[in-house]
Amino acid sequence: MKTILDQLEDRRAEARLGGGQRRIDSQHAKGKLTARERIEVLLDEDSFEEFDMFKSHRCTDFGMQEVSYPGDGVVTGWGTINGRQVYVFSQDFTVFGGSLSETHAEKICKIMDMALQNGAPVIGLNDSGGARIQEGVASLAGYADVFQRNIMASGVVPQISVIMGPCAGGAVYSPAMTDFIFMVRDSSYMFVTGPDVVKTVTNEVVTAEELGGAKTHTSKSSVADGAYEDDMVALMEVRRLVDFLPLSNREKPPLRPFFDEPGRVEPSLDTLVPANPNTPYDMKELIHKVADEGDFFEIQEEFAKNIITGFIRLEGSTVGVVANQPMVLAGCLDIDSSRKAARFVRFCDAFDIPILTFVDVPGFLPGTSQEYSGVIKHGAKLLFAYGEATVPKVTVITRKAYGGAYDVMSSKHLRGDFNYAWPTAEIAVMGAKGAVEILYRSELGDPEKIAARTKDYEERFANPFVAAEKGFIDEVIMPQSTRRRVARAFASLRTKRLSNPWKKHDNIPL
Ligand code: HXC
Repeated sequence: MKTILDQLEDRRAEARLGGGQRRIDSQHAKGKLTARERIEVLLDEDSFEEFDMFKSHRCTDFGMQEVSYPGDGVVTGWGTINGRQVYVFSQDFTVFGGSLSETHAEKICKIMDMALQNGAPVIGLNDSGGARIQEGVASLAGYADVFQRNIMASGVVPQISVIMGPCAGGAVYSPAMTDFIFMVRDSSYMFVTGPDVVKTVTNEVVTAEELGGAKTHTSKSSVADGAYEDDMVALMEVRRLVDFLPLSNREKPPLRPFFDEPGRVEPSLDTLVPANPNTPYDMKELIHKVADEGDFFEIQEEFAKNIITGFIRLEGSTVGVVANQPMVLAGCLDIDSSRKAARFVRFCDAFDIPILTFVDVPGFLPGTSQEYSGVIKHGAKLLFAYGEATVPKVTVITRKAYGGAYDVMSSKHLRGDFNYAWPTAEIAVMGAKGAVEILYRSELGDPEKIAARTKDYEERFANPFVAAEKGFIDEVIMPQSTRRRVARAFASLRTKRLSNPWKKHDNIPL
């Protein structure tokens, strides 16, 4: 008996070594953790339960029958993050460069199926040379099996990808279909075709980092939602994010203990909006001052900074925040900000996370570049996302809410539940200057008349009361009491029931 038990321990020890000490050392030398070390950081201590530790590849081509490693280049299983269940796969670069074989794919599919059945998030730690070259089409088939599961799991359980090494070719499409992608700076990259192919086809000379590094994907392409300096920080931040999310679409987001008075008054907010309507201010200050303990997990911080998206808690419950940022492009909506916010709103709606919207928007960004690139279609994404969302929606207009952008930003007309405005709000078709120039074109030569017309217009429209008189604004609130008002609004909406007409699925303008 003793020998059998020892044999098990020996086999386990061999599996834990992956591709061997030399390759583990080389992984460490690159500043990267191994697949197993990453799981240890990600999950609660001693909570990891592994599947398929001994599963090996079945390939016999190219001498592969001679080389086999138990586990076949991916560590899979489940564990907990602050006591809540998650499923994990972690690719092991020390085994055939973490490349995906038929059996490697089967292991990933197994835990994805379990996650879907049991209603828990899937976290993928990606570090792979792509398709296992020796296996050919069997590997491509394995990828497609994973893709199909990503699609089926979308909107059912949260899916999070962390890119911690190479991720190239068609392999990028599995993370691309998950809800959030995080990258590690300087050690991860993602591209469909690498620098060599790019050079051959387009003659462009570009490094892997420029083509698909963390900076590119967080600030230019928006493929990634965030980037962190090393493996440790990235994994700790994923733990933080998971704490905001429900385990599945069948459950409510977690309720966390909070130590912040929901009725907390913030007198400094009364002076947040500057006297001059064209002077910017930092909308993040409002978000931090409203959130429980000022805790804000921002999504896509480096992309389309004219809109802010992320998670906070109010009275311990998760709330998704969307806010125009007057510091960047005056907070206007454009293609990038509409796409960014629309995807975020749809995530929140899919997972029953209420949405808080802070509005200071002068309209859509004008210009040929926007029109030629389809601002009509992309702007419609945000409009569509807000309009279809059935979760509780609370909106606060702090300053400008002009034109179509007023409608888009979770207005009453798109089934906003509570639509508040600060006394500084200006709700109108457009700003006073633009309006007067159109309405009184014939008087443009007379500056005095124009000044009087502008003053008239401002008095009539540059306030929240016209909208409030019509019931489009439920209440004009004091800025200092925003946290209390918003927290009470969401508390009253905990029993909200609203559904859309039956359909196979909608046809959001993609
Ligand atoms: C089998 C692979 C492999 C692969 C790497 N290895 N990629 N084995 N299939 N795809 C092995 C290497 O042979 C090596 O084995 C070990 O992993 C580490 O690789 P190195 O090259 O030494 O490491 P490094 O210098 O860090 O370079 C990493 C790399 C490079 C950039 C990922 O290995 C690389 O370019 N690999 C090929 C990538 C690729 O073209 N993949 C197919 C893409 S197409 P030893 O024994 O020496 O440790 C694709 C299609 C997916 O993925 C389609 C889905 C629909």
